[in-house]
Amino acid sequence: MFGKTLLLLTACLAVQAASIPAKRQNNNGTAAHPNVTDPDVLNFALTLEHLENAFYTGGLQNFSQAAFLKAGYAASVRGYYQQIASHEQTHVANLTSLLGTQAVQPCTYNFGNGNVSTFVATSDMLEVVGASAYSGSARYLQNKDLLTAAAAILATEARQSSWINSAVRGGNPWSTAYETPLDLNQVFTLASSVIVSCPSNNTAIPVTPNPPLTATPATANPGQNITLTFNTTSGPVTNATGLYAAFLSGVTPTFLPLSGNGTFSVTIPSFLRGFVFLAITNSSSAADDSVTVAGPAFFNFAFNSNNTITPLPR
Ligand SMILES: *[C@@H]1O[C@H](CO)[C@@H](O)[C@H](O)[C@H]1NC(C)=O
Ligand SMILES: *[C@@H]1O[C@H](CO)[C@@H](O)[C@H](O)[C@H]1NC(C)=O
Ligand SMILES: *[C@@H]1O[C@H](CO)[C@@H](O)[C@H](O)[C@H]1NC(C)=O
Ligand SMILES: *[C@@H]1O[C@H](CO)[C@@H](O)[C@H](O)[C@H]1NC(C)=O
Ligand SMILES: *[C@@H]1O[C@H](CO)[C@@H](O)[C@H](O)[C@H]1NC(C)=O
Ligand SMILES: *[C@@H]1O[C@H](CO)[C@@H](O)[C@H](O)[C@H]1NC(C)=O
Ligand SMILES: *[C@@H]1O[C@H](CO)[C@@H](O)[C@H](O)[C@H]1NC(C)=O
Ligand SMILES: *[C@@H]1O[C@H](CO)[C@@H](O)[C@H](O)[C@H]1NC(C)=O
Ligand SMILES: *[C@@H]1O[C@H](CO)[C@@H](O)[C@H](O)[C@H]1NC(C)=O
Ligand SMILES: *[C@@H]1O[C@H](CO)[C@@H](O)[C@H](O)[C@H]1NC(C)=O
Ligand SMILES: *[C@@H]1O[C@H](CO)[C@@H](O)[C@H](O)[C@H]1NC(C)=O
Ligand SMILES: *[C@@H]1O[C@H](CO)[C@@H](O)[C@H](O)[C@H]1NC(C)=O
Repeated sequence: MFGKTLLLLTACLAVQAASIPAKRQNNNGTAAHPNVTDPDVLNFALTLEHLENAFYTGGLQNFSQAAFLKAGYAASVRGYYQQIASHEQTHVANLTSLLGTQAVQPCTYNFGNGNVSTFVATSDMLEVVGASAYSGSARYLQNKDLLTAAAAILATEARQSSWINSAVRGGNPWSTAYETPLDLNQVFTLASSVIVSCPSNNTAIPVTPNPPLTATPATANPGQNITLTFNTTSGPVTNATGLYAAFLSGVTPTFLPLSGNGTFSVTIPSFLRGFVFLAITNSSSAADDSVTVAGPAFFNFAFNSNNTITPLPR
């Protein structure tokens, strides 16, 4: 379950320098989530931080320094992962403190029974989705202090992501000139596949996972065809007219019209590089939650220093 299309998520908002206004504010700037408040966004971030914290804490308990060395990783790798784990614990503590009695508690998770390599692959995705989650959530935050603190963490998330995909795994340090912003439901769709259940009294967050999207084969690369499997909230699609495969890379999605009945095939655009999300939209001009019908799915099109698609060495 830790393959290329494993759906996970994370986000990190540092908030120690900020405070939440007592009065709830409308954020009426987005079509998808007209009334999302700063506390909503912080609790969403805390949900993701809890997940990340549980992942790193559990993974480092499972895998010793000897296990990392045996799996072929450098002697420094596990220690740096301990530092990442410590960052996540700090974020959980700070967000919990800020939200007070409204703070959500951890859920239970299913991270599977992997090995050091699958732990590394999952951490790679966690950090990328975290950077995308924060990039997208900036549009919701009203409080400039929170935005600044979150921007500081976004940069650290991106550094962690670069370290994992390049220093640890031997691949590309970045994707394109821009990180890919994701919207709230899109992020939650990626996260919810490893969330088993959450405390019933947790503060409700105004996000809903989208129907899942599976791309087959999961190992396909740019220029190759994939088959898309998904339902909408109202069931299977029998007429795909008006639906698009939206490849989300940087700030400019690539939309490919779908056609067919039941099974849908598209060719991955050959120019795509690095981490790419794929959503089904009913718009060919926007790709936020208000037009997302299913997904996203997740790809890591690793490339070498000559910009050639190349499997990750580790
Ligand atoms: C939009 O939100 C602001 C607060 O951020 C509020 O003052 C304003 O009344 C809202 N506008 C509408 C039309 O809801
Ligand atoms: C957003 O809040 C406004 C003001 O409270 C309300 O009139 C409107 O119905 C809300 N919109 C949604 C989608 O909940
Ligand atoms: C750690 O091992 C336990 C027991 O096998 C497993 O349930 C859990 O998912 C593992 N966690 C990680 C992050 O590998
Ligand atoms: C936030 O984290 C920092 C660093 O660990 C800590 O010193 C501070 O007390 C925390 N703030 C809150 C409000 O928990
Ligand atoms: C780790 O698990 C993956 C997925 O099950 C498997 O392909 C890989 O061979 C395993 N690696 C080791 C070193 O056991
Ligand atoms: C939910 O219940 C737990 C345990 O009873 C409590 O610690 C927590 O504060 C409650 N959360 C909320 C949001 O009320
Ligand atoms: C990929 O799909 C296109 C049609 O969308 C088709 O023309 C092409 O032959 C397919 N390529 C492969 C390798 O299956
Ligand atoms: C779509 O819905 C049908 C039943 O309506 C179900 O059999 C199928 O497994 C669903 N597919 C997905 C990808 O959820
Ligand atoms: C897809 O198949 C269903 C039933 O088999 C049919 O009702 C529908 O018209 C078909 N749609 C298209 C676009 O051919
Ligand atoms: C599919 O939907 C489009 C747009 O609504 C419509 O023009 C077309 O006739 C439909 N095709 C079938 C087979 O129902
Ligand atoms: C487009 O998709 C969104 C999100 O699923 C949905 O709310 C909306 O009704 C859809 N619009 C059309 C015209 O189907
Ligand atoms: C890619 O670039 C490196 C260094 O610039 C060079 O050594 C290598 O041969 C190139 N590989 C390919 C496949 O062109």
